[in-house]
Amino acid sequence: MKLHHVLESQQFTVPLLMELFDRTRVMEKIVARGGTRDWENKVMTTLFYKPSTRTRMSFESAMYRLGGKVLATEQAQEFSSEVEGEQLEDTIRIVADYCDLIVLRHHEAGGARRAAAVSGVPVFNAGDGAGGQHPTQALLDLYTIYNECKKLDGLSVALIGALDQGRTARSLAYLLGKFDRTKLYFIAPPEMQVKQDILEHLEQHNVVYELASSTDKIIENVDVVYQTRIDRARLHGSEIDLTSYNIDKTVLRRLRSNAIIMHPLPRSVEIASDVDGDPRAAYFRQTRNGLFVRMALLTMVFEKE
Ligand code: CP
Repeated sequence: MKLHHVLESQQFTVPLLMELFDRTRVMEKIVARGGTRDWENKVMTTLFYKPSTRTRMSFESAMYRLGGKVLATEQAQEFSSEVEGEQLEDTIRIVADYCDLIVLRHHEAGGARRAAAVSGVPVFNAGDGAGGQHPTQALLDLYTIYNECKKLDGLSVALIGALDQGRTARSLAYLLGKFDRTKLYFIAPPEMQVKQDILEHLEQHNVVYELASSTDKIIENVDVVYQTRIDRARLHGSEIDLTSYNIDKTVLRRLRSNAIIMHPLPRSVEIASDVDGDPRAAYFRQTRNGLFVRMALLTMVFEKE
């Protein structure tokens, strides 16, 4: 199936997701045997205007494992011509002449769409702004859920954190809403609850959801806990007790034995480090899957060029 730009989760159909996941399993085998040189004529640019560890490095590793080459600007806000006032559109037009694909993390929601509108090569949205999207993260999240739960229909998923701005949870909600009998719980402080655009989309697609400000009576009934960070600075001195959103050993005792805990990372205090050894803690398996899913995405685009 055709894949060019990757800008938002909504663009992925269920058949396209299944094709991606089949291909991802092949990529796991390719990495296990030391990679391939099949894509040695391809050049990928990582153009990152905001910090990243996992997304940038897994994309770069993916390209190297495929035999390709990487042009990297990891602090584009400082080391690109944006410092001289250059517009994103001009930068993209120029960089597109030097490579076959651009992976962009931008500080504005909608930045990736602006880039795609002028780019001569495919653009992958690697996270745009607060309240934007992070579709390749959501794809690796969904792949992890599929691997761990062995199904994608009929799942109950709790998304926890600052859901108004959390682009990973936003992108994942769109993907989960494509499957039958999904139930989503959005658990957040009321001032950080998920935005109306997501809820309207879920309603249009008959997806059942519930909004909550506490994990009580929910956490024990879900298949997946998707934890994200809450930036304390955004609370402006409010007395709200953020520790009630944290995952620790007490919460583990309430979780189903076959539930999984995910987190896009980086984490702060919202998952205690003594949870890491529990077999239900899937977040390091999740980050590893990022390499394979991103390799699969790159090959899907390069093959269709
Ligand atoms: N999950 C994620 O996007 O991590 P990075 O910010 O390290 O890329």
